[in-house]
Parts: sequence; structure tokens; C-alpha cells
Amino acid sequence: TTVPEIRRGLAGVVADTTEISTVIRETNSLTYRGYPVQDLAASRSFEEVAHLLWHGDLPDPAQLREFRARERALRPLGRTTSELLARLPETCHPMDVLRTAVSLFGAEDPIEDDDGTAANRAKSLALLAKLPTVVAADQRRRRGLSPIPPDSDLGYAENFFQMCFGAVPEPEVVRCFEISLVLYAEHSFNASTFTARVVTSTLSDLYSAVTAAIGALKGPLHGGANEAVMHMLEEIGDPARAGEWLDGALAAKRKIMGFGHRVYRHGDSRVPMMQDALDRLVSRATDSEATRLATLHESLRRAVLTRKGIHPNLDYPAGLAYHLMGFDTPTFTPIFVMSRITGWTAHITEQLAHNALIRPLASYTGPGQRPVPTVP
Ligand code: CMC
Repeated sequence: TTVPEIRRGLAGVVADTTEISTVIRETNSLTYRGYPVQDLAASRSFEEVAHLLWHGDLPDPAQLREFRARERALRPLGRTTSELLARLPETCHPMDVLRTAVSLFGAEDPIEDDDGTAANRAKSLALLAKLPTVVAADQRRRRGLSPIPPDSDLGYAENFFQMCFGAVPEPEVVRCFEISLVLYAEHSFNASTFTARVVTSTLSDLYSAVTAAIGALKGPLHGGANEAVMHMLEEIGDPARAGEWLDGALAAKRKIMGFGHRVYRHGDSRVPMMQDALDRLVSRATDSEATRLATLHESLRRAVLTRKGIHPNLDYPAGLAYHLMGFDTPTFTPIFVMSRITGWTAHITEQLAHNALIRPLASYTGPGQRPVPTVP
């Protein structure tokens, strides 16, 4: 018998086609529907990019106006959802709150099972609009504060700051946040998107697929890395200790959070843009704490590159940037969800448009066939 080739972790396996985005590893570039992501991040709003991912093209002014109006109207949460989420224990991770919220949205939606494109587009937009409301209310709840309702006069990013802190920061900070949302929005067949496609391939509903995707994103090898980066920086503390800490961590075979990537080998295409946004946040900070963290961040980047030849991924600059914007560390990965919901739902629609059940094989290595012993 021939032994089938096994690609552990499906590394290098091409599982299907997609028209949504592509990672070009030779040039370390990423395009959404053909547009380089850094060009989108430099000149377009997150709402325009959401429209692009879902509909295949950037919106014209009239389409953008309509898109914005619909998104703004969908932001408030239903009473049942708010009440149930407020009763979750504060010890549970904000990603668990978000996962539960999406599950509740599904339970409350009378058309949950309609997987037609129009129904799924409506559900996707509702999720895009409501997730920030959940994330902001949850961060406030943990700080012992009551929720701030969404403000339909504000854009997606501004409204999120308003709901979190009761104030919108300077445009420069909002811009840096928006850049992170654009960069996080879509990344081909990553683990959480593939999870959403697996669930969708059984013809299950969109909420189930998104709930599962949130579970996949939570792990530190994937989206949970942006939170883990901050914990790591706090653990190291002193910039002068970065090299010594790294030696210890590598000797203990620890993975350095925010470094490495399955697809990119010579650097993540999204990093320069996010690093630039981070640098701008650091330069406008007035406290020495921001400078200390930035110095530590840079020393560790250099040490990892020198010792291991490994480059940072998007989570490395994004984690520290979210900290400097004032978000609590456990809120970082939920922010990733607020952005990636666009990519996930674009993939769910695409999967349904030419569905094939995703069901691979395994090479069995357990005991050979044997008789069941008679019951003594
Ligand atoms: N720290 C230490 N060593 C690393 C790291 C790292 N972050 N990343 C890769 N390596 C080593 C790895 O141990 C292996 O060494 P060896 O050949 O000696 O065993 C070598 O580099 C090749 O790595 P790999 O195991 O083939 O990489 P992979 O494709 O299986 O894993 C990864 C990719 C992202 C899971 C991994 O790089 C990692 O665990 N990184 C830390 C977590 C992280 O930052 N995740 C975010 C990923 S990107 C954005 C996102 O999804 O949010």
C-alpha cells in the first residue's frame, strides 16, 4: 500500500479557489479584490473596504452613503442580548462574550436558516454594526461602568471610541485605528476563515460559522497573539532585558508572540503600515511609559531577527498600538473580530456560491483491527 502524503496543519495545501484576496509570498504583498492592502489602508475608510470585500468593488458615493446609513441604524443591541451578556461572569474572556453574543444573535434571528445571498449580506452587515457595541459595553462593564449607546452621527471607528471611552480622540488616533481595521479585515484561508468555510460547507447557518470562527481566532497562534504580545512586553518590562528574556524563552522552546507566519517567510506585508501608525502614536504620547514600551518593542524585534531570523507579523505592532490607544489588553482580539467579520462573511458567501463539503481524510496510526474481548 502506498502511504499518502500528509501535510500536517494543511501547510502548503491549496484547498479551493477564492476571488476575495491573495497573499503573494514572493513579493510579501496582500491584495483585497486586486487592490494592494496598504494603498487601501492609506486612502480608504474601513466601511469602504467592507463594501469592497462583500461586493467586489469599492462603493461609489451614493452606495457609500447608503452603506453607512444602514450600518449606523443596525448598531443598537436588542434588550435580550444586552441583558444576557450583562449576566455573563466577568471572569470569562471578552472573546467568550463575543462568541456568545453572535450565538445569541443567531438565536434571535427569525431568518437564521435563510442562506440566500441577500439574507446573508443583511446578517453580515448587522454583525458588523453590532459587534463594536458588544465589545465596547463589555470593556466598560469590566471597568465597572455602564454602557454608552452607539452614536449614529459618528463613523464606524469614531463611534467605537465613543462607546468605549465616552470621547473620540484626535483624528490622527482614529486614523491609526482605522488602518488597523483595514489591515486586519481579510487574509485568505487563515485558520478562522477556513473554520467558517468548514462550518458553511455543511450548509449550516452564518451565525454558527461566525461563532466557530471566533473560537478559532481566540487562540494565541492566531488572533489571540495581539493580546499575547502585550502580556509578553509586560513580562519583559525593561528594554535592557529583551535579549536575555529572549534567550530564556527560546531555550524553553516558547513561541515568541507576534512573530512568524505560516505564509510569509520574509516579513508580513501589513507590518510596515501598522508599524508606521504605531510610531505616530508613540511620537504623540506625552508620557515616558509609551517611549519605554516602544523601545522595548524595537529591541525585541531586533533580537528575534538576529537570533532566529524571524520577522514580526501584524499582531506585533497592532498589540502595542491598541494599548497606546487606551484599550484593555483582553479587548485586542475582539477588535480583530470587529474587522475580520468582513472577511469571514465574504468567504461564507463565496463558499455557498460553489459549495463542496469540506471533509479531508486521515492516515490511521492506531491499533490494528482486533476482536472486541468478551465481557468478563
Ligand atoms: N517564535 C519562536 N520560533 C518560531 C516562531 C515564533 N513566533 N515562529 C516560528 N518559529 C520557528 C519554529 O519553531 C520553527 O523552528 P524549527 O524549524 O526549529 O522547529 C520555524 O520557526 C518554522 O516555523 P513553523 O513551525 O514552520 O511555522 P508555522 O507555519 O507552523 O507557524 C505560527 C506559524 C504563526 C503559528 C508561528 O510562527 C507562531 O506560533 N507564531 C507566534 C504566534 C503568532 O504570532 N501568531 C499570529 C500569526 S499571524 C496573524 C494572525 O493570525 O493573527
